[in-house]
Amino acid sequence: MDLKIYKDKQKVAEQFSTYFVEKVGAGDTFHVALSGGSTPKIVFDVLAENFSDKVDWNKVHFYWGDERCVPPTDDESNYKMTVEHLFSKIEVPQENIHRILGEKDPETEAMRYANLLEINLDRVEDIPQFDLIILGMGDDGHTASIFPHEIELWDAEDHCVVATHPESGQKRVSINGKVINAAKEVAFLVTGASKAEKVKAVTEKTKGSEAYPASLVDPKSGNLVWFLDEDAAAELNPNPS
Ligand code: 6PG
Repeated sequence: MDLKIYKDKQKVAEQFSTYFVEKVGAGDTFHVALSGGSTPKIVFDVLAENFSDKVDWNKVHFYWGDERCVPPTDDESNYKMTVEHLFSKIEVPQENIHRILGEKDPETEAMRYANLLEINLDRVEDIPQFDLIILGMGDDGHTASIFPHEIELWDAEDHCVVATHPESGQKRVSINGKVINAAKEVAFLVTGASKAEKVKAVTEKTKGSEAYPASLVDPKSGNLVWFLDEDAAAELNPNPS
């Protein structure tokens, strides 16, 4: 586990963008699953505005680790957020964007998306393998849309599951833990003081942290990197053993 800690969100965005450019440049077609929520906004802005000429976007295929079951025009949509902060600023072929259809029936869409991943991605032991999965983490330790109250979804047989937000009841389609841990590389993007307690719990595996889905992220590849700002890293042990 590689912890990369930077001064603020802007620095996290710049450093992640440099990392992303290197990852894409290293190979041919690049299949990446994006995270949603608010953290990626500044990262996508910086990537699009300062690094877009350094990426051959024709090589990059975009997927999502999770999507809210809302139309793509809804302010809650991770796809809509990504259009606003990234796709509207770069030249990426429309056929390279594989959104989760939030407007469809959740169970039907989870099955469709799982099949799409099987068709589009290489498989390792029958599990679709992304080149990179970008994850966020909620204040409650959820990641993608696997929440603590439904942590059993992590080990679901199906590559994609239907989850329920614990407060709003909003339905989500999410990839499961097997797909996350099959990725060639997983990068957490976590910023802000509200995440500090769970960042410590999850990265230092403190007592009880196994209740947090983010603590189950452990890619078989061994390639797990955390991009943190100082606020999110504030409770980490300065001299890890
Ligand atoms: C989503 C995300 C989710 C997110 C965390 C952190 O659809 O909301 O994929 O897993 O990464 O909830 O969200 P913030 O970046 O808004 O704190």
